[in-house]
Amino acid sequence: MLAHLVEQHLKTEKNFEKAALKALNDVRGTYGIALQYKGEPDKLIAARMGSPIVLGLGDGEHFIASDPSPILPHTKKVVFLEDGEVAVLTPGEHRIFKLDSSKVMRAPTEIDWNAEQAQKGGYEHFMMKEIMEGPEVIENTLRGRLIPEKGMAKLGGLESVAEQLEKIERIIIVACGTAYYAALVGEYMLEEHAGIPVEVELGSEFRYRKPVLNERTAVLAISQSGETLDTLEAVREGKRRGALTLGIVNTVGSTIVRETDAGVYNHAGPEIGVASTKAFISQLTALGLFTIFLGRQRGMSEAEGKEIAKELKRLPAKLQQILDTKETIEKMAGKYVHARDFLYLGRRYNLPVAYEGALKLKEISYIHAEGCGAGEMKHGPIAMIDKDFPTMALAPKDSMYGKMISNIHEIKARKGPVIAVATEGDTEISQLADDVIYVPQTIEMLSPILNVVPLQLFAYYFAKQKGLNVDRPRNLAKSVTVE
Ligand code: AGP
Repeated sequence: MLAHLVEQHLKTEKNFEKAALKALNDVRGTYGIALQYKGEPDKLIAARMGSPIVLGLGDGEHFIASDPSPILPHTKKVVFLEDGEVAVLTPGEHRIFKLDSSKVMRAPTEIDWNAEQAQKGGYEHFMMKEIMEGPEVIENTLRGRLIPEKGMAKLGGLESVAEQLEKIERIIIVACGTAYYAALVGEYMLEEHAGIPVEVELGSEFRYRKPVLNERTAVLAISQSGETLDTLEAVREGKRRGALTLGIVNTVGSTIVRETDAGVYNHAGPEIGVASTKAFISQLTALGLFTIFLGRQRGMSEAEGKEIAKELKRLPAKLQQILDTKETIEKMAGKYVHARDFLYLGRRYNLPVAYEGALKLKEISYIHAEGCGAGEMKHGPIAMIDKDFPTMALAPKDSMYGKMISNIHEIKARKGPVIAVATEGDTEISQLADDVIYVPQTIEMLSPILNVVPLQLFAYYFAKQKGLNVDRPRNLAKSVTVE
């Protein structure tokens, strides 16, 4: 329809740019478009309203895409369009202007991803490559941001609002999907170790609420793509109501980055697999840094800051230990590959991990999987348990261990198969569970970063053994830029 509208205007305007602009001023709605007209073949026109558009500035050539990755093999210089902007590209120049024809001057962003990073790097799927990048992703997220000798975190992207952050009385974290589960972990971290009240809201809900906010509220958006419309609209709602808006985002220069007051980049590199894996690891690492940053402003002792910082630096090696056991997890996935249902159980920091593990399994293998607070089981879900309904139980040696053991007993009493994610060296649980995946010990607030990895691998191998398209599962998009 939009193409025909441009064609209609061409009849009177006789000029491609003018016709396109008139057409775009006629319409309302969300679009990300690229236009070409056979009458002026060396010209491309791009326009953005809600759906991301990025321009690649090559040497005597220009590119249009919705994400930097496909442009990288040609150029690292990119320009992100804002909503309501139009770009005209010819081999020699690019111009950007608003729908009212006013010119826009925007310096290009240099993307620090090289092209091969965006390739599979020898793995069969992007998802496996991105799971295996976990240790390096933690290192990249931490790089230059820890001051271990002082037990402090240095977040350059928050320096400009550091004073305002000291006055913040409440944080609302908005996100969707996997990022939402990272936010739920962040809630525990920030309340327990930074002493600040935190609420977590689905982007798709927050934007329709009438939230009570003020300048002492911070709205923190977590988003890998930085383009999720529900999260973006939640940020805009926060801004409209006077809140300080922050972001933890992976994609450089993306819309959420540009529309928040300040933020922290993940530096996780391109995540191509639709199922988010390394971004989740990086989001939790960034939340750990944010917890130290805020906590040390609010009474966290130097000793506690040092302990968290020290453990953050140990995580890459501990994560690698889990990755080294991937063949065991592959076999385990084969044992359960005929299951039609899966329950994921966790408590406290590991409840969001249970939700995330269930999401991984359902989004790439299409079976029914649900995360459930282990304490909630007796309020209904346990009715589903039988010999054909396996449970993945997150039962590390933490403050909830005893309760998790009794939950596993309840399931076994109903003949439910149990896979336990447990702390290495825990021999008791291997007497109880049908299968055990061991992970190294770490401090409770950082345990989700390790405990999620077996669940990512389990989902990957489960779906792969079902012969499904692991990187591009049906019905899903990598960046949900629509309502
Ligand atoms: C997670 O595996 C899914 N791809 C999806 O839930 C995703 O996390 C969600 O759409 C949020 O995306 P974002 O982090 O780019 O905002």
